[in-house]
Amino acid sequence: MTGGPVLAIETSCDETAAAVVDGRRILANVVASQAALHTPYGGVVPEVAARHHLGTVNAVVDEALAAAGLALDDVAAVAVTQRPGLIGALLVGVATAKALAYAAGKPLVMVDHLHGHICATWLEPTALDPPFVSLVASGGHTRLDLVRDYRAPRLLGQTRDDAAGEAIDKGARLLGLGYPGGPALERLASGGDRAAFRFPVGLGGAGERDFSYAGVKTALLYVVRDLGDGAAARHEDLAASYQEAVVRPLADRLVGAAVEHRVPAVSLGGGVAANGRLRELVAERAAEHGLRVAVPERALCTDNAAMIAAAAAFTPSIAWPDYLALDAVATSPPGGIAA
Ligand code: KG4
Ligand code: ZN
Repeated sequence: MTGGPVLAIETSCDETAAAVVDGRRILANVVASQAALHTPYGGVVPEVAARHHLGTVNAVVDEALAAAGLALDDVAAVAVTQRPGLIGALLVGVATAKALAYAAGKPLVMVDHLHGHICATWLEPTALDPPFVSLVASGGHTRLDLVRDYRAPRLLGQTRDDAAGEAIDKGARLLGLGYPGGPALERLASGGDRAAFRFPVGLGGAGERDFSYAGVKTALLYVVRDLGDGAAARHEDLAASYQEAVVRPLADRLVGAAVEHRVPAVSLGGGVAANGRLRELVAERAAEHGLRVAVPERALCTDNAAMIAAAAAFTPSIAWPDYLALDAVATSPPGGIAA
């Protein structure tokens, strides 16, 4: 779609988010996190997430419009995350977006959440233009895409089991840290020796672009068990070595893919992009090959609606009444992205 400010809504997991974006410029980006609500359970509870979205979404949309200084009538289109995600959570966003599009008499754009993560780099000030290779690593996804055109990212590789963030969260839990474990694990790792323990790296072959984290997670479990009472004294080394085993293949395969496909840049997205060791490794590897590294600010790497508005710029819009027939979908399509 083209032209004018877009109001976007994102409710695929545990963030209720709304944003107003005009071209590459973010006018408002509001995120209401439910993280504290789910902490006692050690993970996101789908039904709790959906109910909370329902109570929050209207206020978040109003706040985004107010921050942008616009009324609903001023927007050119409404965009929403259609897939993949928790179905009850997605439904709240999709139903809200349909109602707003109808009320304003504007078209609706149904966006793929992963497409959103990839398009976050299109926004200012990062403003990355293709071609580049994108890594999206979060609690739910781990994937590499070749982006020659923001309209059609090409999947190069993805995780065959756990997502990188999920592996980090599970490892953090084994070391007695709370949920989500990423920031706590990174803090613990900063005082440790990353070569102290040798954890296996999944799918290590040259040219491999997929990821696997089942092995490293199990390896940590056994090492902690075997150390017994001695494990507590080694927590910093365990955290540093485990973090290294999770982020090193991300950096290696991202830069390896960029070199293979002869593109001049790589991008990082998803919550794991906040990890300092991952950024350091990517920067080192990229410098060896003269590649630009594009990392949007943290608020655009974690789940947000500005990235959904960005992807909407590269997704066909749907007019009334056709969008009434479209619904939320929990899964990704076989090609990886519905763009
Ligand atoms: O994108 P995100 O906020 O939510 C989704 O999963 O969609 O990503 C959250 C993930 C969690 O697994 C969290 O532990 C991880 O990102 N994470 C980190 C760091 N900060 C967040 N992982 C490693 N180091 C960090 N500093
Ligand atoms: Zn996400």
